[in-house]
Amino acid sequence: MGNLGVFLKIFSLIVAMSSLHAIAQLSKQEKTWFQKYYLGKKEVTKLHFYVQDKLSGPNKTVYEVSRSNITSISPTSFGQVRVLDDLLTAGPDRNSTELGRAQGLITFADLKQSALAMNLNFVFTSGKYNGSTLCILGRNPILERDRELPIVGGTGIFRMARGYSISNTYSYDPIEDYGVIEYTVYVTYVKG
Ligand SMILES: *[C@@H]1O[C@H](CO)[C@@H](O)[C@H](O)[C@H]1NC(C)=O
Ligand SMILES: *[C@@H]1O[C@H](CO)[C@@H](O)[C@H](O)[C@H]1NC(C)=O
Ligand SMILES: *[C@@H]1O[C@H](CO)[C@@H](O)[C@H](O)[C@H]1NC(C)=O
Ligand SMILES: *[C@@H]1O[C@H](CO)[C@@H](O)[C@H](O)[C@H]1NC(C)=O
Repeated sequence: MGNLGVFLKIFSLIVAMSSLHAIAQLSKQEKTWFQKYYLGKKEVTKLHFYVQDKLSGPNKTVYEVSRSNITSISPTSFGQVRVLDDLLTAGPDRNSTELGRAQGLITFADLKQSALAMNLNFVFTSGKYNGSTLCILGRNPILERDRELPIVGGTGIFRMARGYSISNTYSYDPIEDYGVIEYTVYVTYVKG
């Protein structure tokens, strides 16, 4: 980074700090975070994991919460809303290392194609991201092979995160009504 780059970073830090009326009231911890955010090195990380979609049977993790009056006759289940709390694993096997949960809402929101409006949180409960979350929000055309979804933010290590994910259906067992979805996530955040 050249002198100009350093100058611009410090300038943007000063602008950010002076725009906060209550700067004097910031705790030491908060000041450290602002400094880290404005001066810190942005890092792009690739994450790879699997979502275990247990759609029926005992202890299923996906539940319908409502539907429109055309859902049952719609070829795309339009208007159905489901809430889920799926297991996140390191490998495709449901017994592989548990990384966390995928929690949120999916809505069948396309009259013509099978596509979801998704609002999901990846909640990490082990490893280096334990306690951090990533938020996904976007359109998911579930019959396409590779689906791109935006990562719009996060908490913990992933504060102010941005990125995208590519997901595909790794497997689906129609007898058990059990799906495994593979996610590859590219996310930018400030390195701690
Ligand atoms: C369902 O969950 C309960 C409570 O965690 C557990 O005792 C039971 O064995 C589970 N059943 C199946 C089929 O996984
Ligand atoms: C759904 O409800 C609307 C009114 O809210 C009604 O006009 C329509 O006929 C209903 N459609 C079906 C398929 O029942
Ligand atoms: C996963 O572990 C359970 C017991 O916890 C076992 O019943 C099941 O067969 C295992 N599944 C696979 C795919 O290995
Ligand atoms: C994750 O963090 C929680 C809270 O700090 C802790 O209780 C738990 O043991 C951690 N889990 C793992 C697998 O490291």
